Amino acid sequence: MFPEAEASESIEATSTEAMGGPAIGTLDIFLLSLSVGVGVYWFFFRKKAENKTEGLVNPITSSSMTMSSNSGSGFITKMKSSSRNVVVFYGSQTGTGEEFSVRLAKEAQRYGLKGMVADPEENEMEDLSQLADIENSLAIFCVATYGEGDPTDNAQEFYDWLQDGNGDLSGVKYTVFGLGNKTYEHYNAMGKYLDKRLEELGGERIFELGLGDDDQNIEEDFVTWKDRFWPAVCEYYGLEATGDESNIRQYAVTEHTEDVPEKVFSGEVARLNAFKNQKPPYDAKNPYLSAITVNRELHQGGDRSCMHIEFDISGSRIRYESGDHVAVYPTNDPELVAAIGKILDADLDTVFTLTNVDEEASKKHPFPCPTSYQTAFSHYLDITSCPRANVLKEISEYATDPADKEKLLLMSSATPEGKKEYSDWVTKCHRNIVAILEDLPSVKVPLDHLCELLPRLHARYYSISSSPKVSPDRISITAVLIRYTTPTGRIGKGVATNWLKDKIPNGPETTPFRVPIYVRKSQFRLPFKTTTPVIMVGPGTGLAPFRGFIQERDFYRKDETKKVGDSILFFGCRKSTEDYIYKDELDEYLKNGTLTNVHVAFSRETEEKLYVQHLMKRCQKQIWGMLEKGSHIYVCGDARFMAPDVQRTIREIICQEGGKTQTEAEDYIKKMQSKGRYSCDVWS
Ligand SMILES: Cc1cc2nc3c(=O)[nH]c(=O)nc-3n(C[C@H](O)[C@H](O)[C@H](O)COP(=O)(O)OP(=O)(O)OC[C@H]3O[C@@H](n4cnc5c(N)ncnc54)[C@H](O)[C@@H]3O)c2cc1C
Ligand SMILES: NC(=O)c1ccc[n+]([C@@H]2O[C@H](COP(=O)([O-])OP(=O)(O)OC[C@H]3O[C@@H](n4cnc5c(N)ncnc54)[C@H](OP(=O)(O)O)[C@@H]3O)[C@@H](O)[C@H]2O)c1
Ligand SMILES: Cc1cc2nc3c(=O)[nH]c(=O)nc-3n(C[C@H](O)[C@H](O)[C@H](O)COP(=O)(O)O)c2cc1C
Ligand SMILES: *[C@@H]1O[C@H](CO)[C@@H](O)[C@H](O)[C@H]1NC(C)=O
Ligand SMILES: *[C@@H]1O[C@H](CO)[C@@H](O)[C@H](O)[C@H]1NC(C)=O
Repeated sequence: MFPEAEASESIEATSTEAMGGPAIGTLDIFLLSLSVGVGVYWFFFRKKAENKTEGLVNPITSSSMTMSSNSGSGFITKMKSSSRNVVVFYGSQTGTGEEFSVRLAKEAQRYGLKGMVADPEENEMEDLSQLADIENSLAIFCVATYGEGDPTDNAQEFYDWLQDGNGDLSGVKYTVFGLGNKTYEHYNAMGKYLDKRLEELGGERIFELGLGDDDQNIEEDFVTWKDRFWPAVCEYYGLEATGDESNIRQYAVTEHTEDVPEKVFSGEVARLNAFKNQKPPYDAKNPYLSAITVNRELHQGGDRSCMHIEFDISGSRIRYESGDHVAVYPTNDPELVAAIGKILDADLDTVFTLTNVDEEASKKHPFPCPTSYQTAFSHYLDITSCPRANVLKEISEYATDPADKEKLLLMSSATPEGKKEYSDWVTKCHRNIVAILEDLPSVKVPLDHLCELLPRLHARYYSISSSPKVSPDRISITAVLIRYTTPTGRIGKGVATNWLKDKIPNGPETTPFRVPIYVRKSQFRLPFKTTTPVIMVGPGTGLAPFRGFIQERDFYRKDETKKVGDSILFFGCRKSTEDYIYKDELDEYLKNGTLTNVHVAFSRETEEKLYVQHLMKRCQKQIWGMLEKGSHIYVCGDARFMAPDVQRTIREIICQEGGKTQTEAEDYIKKMQSKGRYSCDVWS
């Protein structure tokens, strides 16, 4: 018995104009993934330089939510005016490269050098040649690779300039550290290119290229590289390490205990009082405080929970399209915040300011200041992911128990034992900063230092599960609650989903809570022509954007002047009785013909796992027929296993039904991708 519901309608002959419909709107492919190791979501738009679509929103780089930037003056001017000799440029999408740059700039101090960090996007990179005029000068580049060996967005222009190749970099001393992931075909392509290209343009490499592999342990790669790099710098310039191995603070703290300033941030992302005094347009730096109008459980059984949440955006002038994402700024669990105060015997209500000791640094404060520790730990800092090894090293300084100190130093060391201990004790046990401080009780880190060390708390993205055609004033999301038990017996709770879980509206008038949100444009779009058939593959929460797509196709069907092509859905869940979300709606759409077919794979009702791709195989003739008619195919949900498995299946179908070789099938897929006919909205 097939656990799937199928409509009897056959594929309707689509009008010829839909056949092989050209890619409309965009050639961009939306790729998205997650770095599980550090618990940070990352995402990426690969842009075709010749086709920048209007309205394409630049992805946010890591800490773009931070404060002011002194752009304009240029790095050379700044270096000269503040007698700096080391400049560290970063090409970074999700912040790792930027973080490494900050550390390198800071460490230069140990060797009597003075460093600064610079964003290539905010500087005239042509000025690089003038670096040769500065004594003992050095340019360091920490650059990540994305897509198919592409630079990050903020390094794109610099990359174009390098390629044009008119620069003369004679006398410019440089070194490069590349950030990449070995599982990608074009491993560290940007780092390698830069290293080679700078030399071709006349630059002098003073230390060999370093390569970091994010699939293993990029922190280790970085530390190993820089531990050899600095001595080489010293030798080259004839410098001596000051021998000062103590940690260097980037920020100085002022605690406002006597007179508390009037202007204290209470969780705003950037502008003071932005939450009291809301003004459109809303974006990453100015989120809209939205009321939740609906928050209901979608699972009918089982031990998990999946929420259908609706955000009210009426009057906000926020617009969205189906396929877009909504970003949510969450708040940390108050119990966890309180635990930090308790473990460190500190008063979290103290108002403080962290100020960059480097007066000319582009980041004056690590997050909005002045603020209270309570606010900083609740809204600005990531206290739930596993701290990086360098954080452990810095906090080891405060351990009064030698055993605690030794353990921290071991875990932050680059030795095989150190790496293993870090992996076993931190990563595998999923110890966050609170668990670490609990389990190493002699480590009394001052709050302000902890605030300097922890990464920023990021917004979380959700695929919008509604269509503006049907709900222009409401954005809905479909989110699964993240809860798990760690090997130490602690309960791991996803920050955003657990925070949202309790936000249940009890009536239209009582809206005591508000959620800071903004809409992030995506490239995940229905075909331009309504007649174009679509194949949607979205198991679990991967169904989310398709709910919006289906609503939209349904809307068009009600318009008599429009013809709507076939819409086929592949959905998968564990059990028909537990997590078959939106079942009633889907049944209705199938009945009234908006959905041509719905194929559902229940993975835990049969001896052998049944997944969406297995059902796709069963329908391979139909799928191939649709692809040949110009159908679009969409995949949404898990990036790690599902999306690659589904892609493999599509390739098999193309081989078998289209009589193609593996290579031809791959080309077929690539062509579909470049025409915007094969899109993925995936995460893990
Ligand atoms: C573009 C995009 C679209 C997305 N769309 C959706 C969507 O439509 N619906 C949806 O639900 N989510 C979606 N996500 C994921 C979403 O953004 C959040 O990451 C997710 O809700 C978890 O957030 P959180 O703050 O609750 O968890 P976090 O506090 O971020 O915790 C998540 C972390 O917990 C750890 N973890 C999780 N499960 C386990 C486990 N079993 N064992 C050990 N550790 C574990 C992992 O380290 C994981 O990184 C999307 C993500 C992106 C990037
Ligand atoms: N990285 C991971 O290991 C992992 C695992 C699960 C979820 N997630 C993340 O959590 C998100 C939310 O999960 P969710 O609750 O929406 O999904 P879910 O309920 O965990 O999964 C939905 C359905 O997909 C099935 N599935 C598992 N592996 C698959 C594969 N390789 N190919 C096709 N189907 C597969 C599941 O089957 P079974 O569960 O019965 O195998 C289930 O029937 C996912 O989108 C993903 O981002 C990550
Ligand atoms: C969508 C995507 C594409 C990527 N493509 C590549 C690649 O082609 N080659 C590579 O070496 N690394 C690739 N990576 C890995 C990143 O370069 C690596 O994780 C890096 O540490 C990210 O640095 P950042 O946090 O500064 O952006 C990719 C990562 C993502 C998410
Ligand atoms: C490296 O890339 C692979 C393949 O995409 C992915 O599975 C893995 O999670 C990535 N590593 C990190 C740390 O993100
Ligand atoms: C189809 O069913 C959905 C769900 O009940 C409903 O909202 C929609 O109006 C129906 N569409 C048509 C064209 O009848």
